[in-house]
Amino acid sequence: MPFATVRGIRLIYDIRGHGTPVLWIHGFPLGRWLWDPQVEALGAVARSIAVDLRGFGGSSVPEGSYTMDSYAADLRGLLDILGIDQAVLAGLSMGGYVAFAFYAAYPERVRGLILADTRHQADTPEVRANRYAVIERIRAEGTRAAVEAFLPRLFGGTTQRERPERVETLRRKMMTNPAAGLIGALQAMAERPDRTDLLPSIRVPTLVIVGEEDAVTPPDVARQMAEGIPQARVVVIPRAGHLANVEAPEAFNEAVWAFLQELAK
Ligand code: MLT
Repeated sequence: MPFATVRGIRLIYDIRGHGTPVLWIHGFPLGRWLWDPQVEALGAVARSIAVDLRGFGGSSVPEGSYTMDSYAADLRGLLDILGIDQAVLAGLSMGGYVAFAFYAAYPERVRGLILADTRHQADTPEVRANRYAVIERIRAEGTRAAVEAFLPRLFGGTTQRERPERVETLRRKMMTNPAAGLIGALQAMAERPDRTDLLPSIRVPTLVIVGEEDAVTPPDVARQMAEGIPQARVVVIPRAGHLANVEAPEAFNEAVWAFLQELAK
């Protein structure tokens, strides 16, 4: 399994396919496996790099505080090591928060953005307080507490009814994340800045994708976000919730494929 030593830590990643470099950034409490339905299917148009962020999966779990900026700096270091000048950043949910931090710090390294099931706003006080409550539960009960808190909100009603096995498969994968990394990520999300002011300064083609049944970052939020970004378009994926790329991979991949083809012209 390839890994890179970046900023003193080890990052595990997969790299596959040919074409425009796409750096896939997973959400919470997920891992690089989130993107399995994309990496293979888009192999003819994308050179995909799917990475476990620090504190997730097989990557290092360093001590200290985690921030969106530190995740972004790790990813820039990974692109440096791979010799990739510019990549499309594709982030789902927390991955989108990381993509915003990356664009704010290193816009010259970004060829385009795919913002899936994510939001530009910071946490409300209620959401922030809930994250700290989940942190306390993880301290007491371990990774299971994070999985139990988040899993019910991740999938749309259609998937929960018609494909419960997909929910179970992901539950097992989520359980492999180390508790300390999940605590770090919850803190990073709770303290992340609002990105409303960044939106008009995003000068790259941007694809906003959202599941029609996404209750965490609903279609209205996606539309509002896209309205703020000069070169953005929105695709709403039917019969999918917050994990639109897993719940409706064909429709998701079709949107990404068209976006990458357009970029390559
Ligand atoms: C995620 O999917 O990454 C998280 O649900 C995002 C969040 O809690 O804000």
